[in-house]
Amino acid sequence: MPRQPILSVLGHVDSGKTTLLDNIRESKIVDGEAGGITQMIGATEIPLDTVEDVCGDLLQQLDTTLTIPGLLFIDTPGHAAFSSLRKRGGSISDIAILVIDIEEGVQPQTEEAIKILSESSTPFIIALNKVDKLPGWKSQEQCFSKNVQFQSDKNVKALDDRIYELMADLNEYGFVIDRFDRVDNFTEKIGVVPISAMTGEGLPELLMTVAGLAQNYLEDDLEVEEGDGKATVLEVSEQKGFGTTVDVIHYDGTIHEDDKIVYGTPEGVKVTDTRALLKPRPLKEIRLDKQYQKVGKVEPASGVKIAGQDLEGVVPGAPLRAGKHTEKLIEEVKKELETSSFETDNEGLIAKADSLGSLEALMLEIEDIDVKVQKADVGRIKKSDIIEVDNEDPEFRAVIAFNAEVTEKALELAESKDVKIFNSDVIYEALDNYSRWKEDLKQQNRKKALENLSRPAEVRTLQDHVFRSSNPVVIGMKVVEGVINQGSLIDEDGEKIGRIKALQDDGESLEKAEKGDTVALSIANASLDRDFEAGDHLFVDLTSNDYRRLRELDDMLSAGEKKALERIVEIKDSVDPHWKLN
Ligand code: GTP
Ligand code: MG
Repeated sequence: MPRQPILSVLGHVDSGKTTLLDNIRESKIVDGEAGGITQMIGATEIPLDTVEDVCGDLLQQLDTTLTIPGLLFIDTPGHAAFSSLRKRGGSISDIAILVIDIEEGVQPQTEEAIKILSESSTPFIIALNKVDKLPGWKSQEQCFSKNVQFQSDKNVKALDDRIYELMADLNEYGFVIDRFDRVDNFTEKIGVVPISAMTGEGLPELLMTVAGLAQNYLEDDLEVEEGDGKATVLEVSEQKGFGTTVDVIHYDGTIHEDDKIVYGTPEGVKVTDTRALLKPRPLKEIRLDKQYQKVGKVEPASGVKIAGQDLEGVVPGAPLRAGKHTEKLIEEVKKELETSSFETDNEGLIAKADSLGSLEALMLEIEDIDVKVQKADVGRIKKSDIIEVDNEDPEFRAVIAFNAEVTEKALELAESKDVKIFNSDVIYEALDNYSRWKEDLKQQNRKKALENLSRPAEVRTLQDHVFRSSNPVVIGMKVVEGVINQGSLIDEDGEKIGRIKALQDDGESLEKAEKGDTVALSIANASLDRDFEAGDHLFVDLTSNDYRRLRELDDMLSAGEKKALERIVEIKDSVDPHWKLN
């Protein structure tokens, strides 16, 4: 007999994933959640009779017999959790429901979910949720197919318009979708089932479609292999009376209560004894049900809590095996860990994520933006992370994190040291924010570099504003073109005049003067009439090095500065055509 398919429910925050599951199992988990946000991954076993209950009439009408034993629903706090549901070479989710809010359409986390589903080749269907919110929509019947007959033409069209919009959006990712009742072959087209997780409308069709899809297309994948238990760690938690326990999704083989447990940690493979196998009751969330049943063995697919010694180092997403022949299992886990160890550099920033799978997804994306990473780690962002990047080059004084927690101390230290933390539950957001910051940093550095260079300017000295005629010359001048700040001056023939000693306006000294400004200029090592005459145009002298660096900062120069630069180059070229090469 095939095992029940592992079904992940994915979607943007607040799209209605938990409400959907609640409605199916009528347990109202949402009411017990902090802020209604799913903080952890939960697994719930929905037995076949519940599926049949919900599907009711529809099942009889279609004359379908479900042979799968049920569905193992995994509610996730988004794609982050989904990516931790991994096994070697893929995902442990056999199938997924992508929940999309009909009013919001494709949102950032929806996009990420689509990408991850596509990369892991997981078949999925779309639950277009909250149809009850369409103006004038009447949710009278559980079955969408019946209910749609009561709607006005306008409403049906409004619904179709939303589906067409989705069609265009998903097409960009190479997916062809359509309303489920217009799809003949679910391996070619992705079915969209309009539902209301709130009223329950469309749930019969949704469950039928998933169960059918699983039954018809996944049968081979659902055959269970005899032998050692294979699982992926979802959560590590303390359980009264049992100490540290791990919640795992068990997807293959059998786990016995007297098995050795072999599991991956960031430090390598570890082995321990099983203390107890604990199962939540059917229809109960593994993480909320307090009444666990101690069992002798578990068959896949199931969400099971394992109590054992020394399980503290386990991270979510880690591979786990249960069996008697530990050597073979250690090799297997080692192999699986190897696929998720990341190349790091001697220097660079730190990458963090809440599970191995999400770290893998994050590192893949980081590779694309070509940033050096000194450490890639699962877990909370800690004070030591901030200390580690503190002495790095400016662009690496940062932590990029995907869905990670930050300790209070780390946050305080980061703030006081001005180390940046880019943490988001959307990878692209974290990376975009990092890239934008890095770009700002670069611009700031360039701005500083420009401030430290002699900038190109042409000035006209003013005949009746001579305040001192030598050592230094102090004379009024008007900036004709560009920006004057520091350096030496030359005349129109390229002759050296003297060094800019100060710029003043009404006795106040200035850092720089710009086109149109009239200010007093004092020139060291110069005498009026010997070196130049009042009324002459003077230019800022540039060394070949100044010239090269100004060219690098070209985009930060004003049009006037560029003009002045051109003029200065002409003058310098006329004296020595090779000056730029010095
Ligand atoms: P996260 O766990 O935070 O990612 O959210 P979620 O996708 O699990 O969403 P949740 O089920 O917590 O629902 C979010 C909000 O949308 C809640 O206020 C629900 O009552 C509301 N909601 C969910 N489904 C429906 C629906 O079909 N119709 C309407 N009108 N509201 C809905
Ligand atoms: Mg939720």
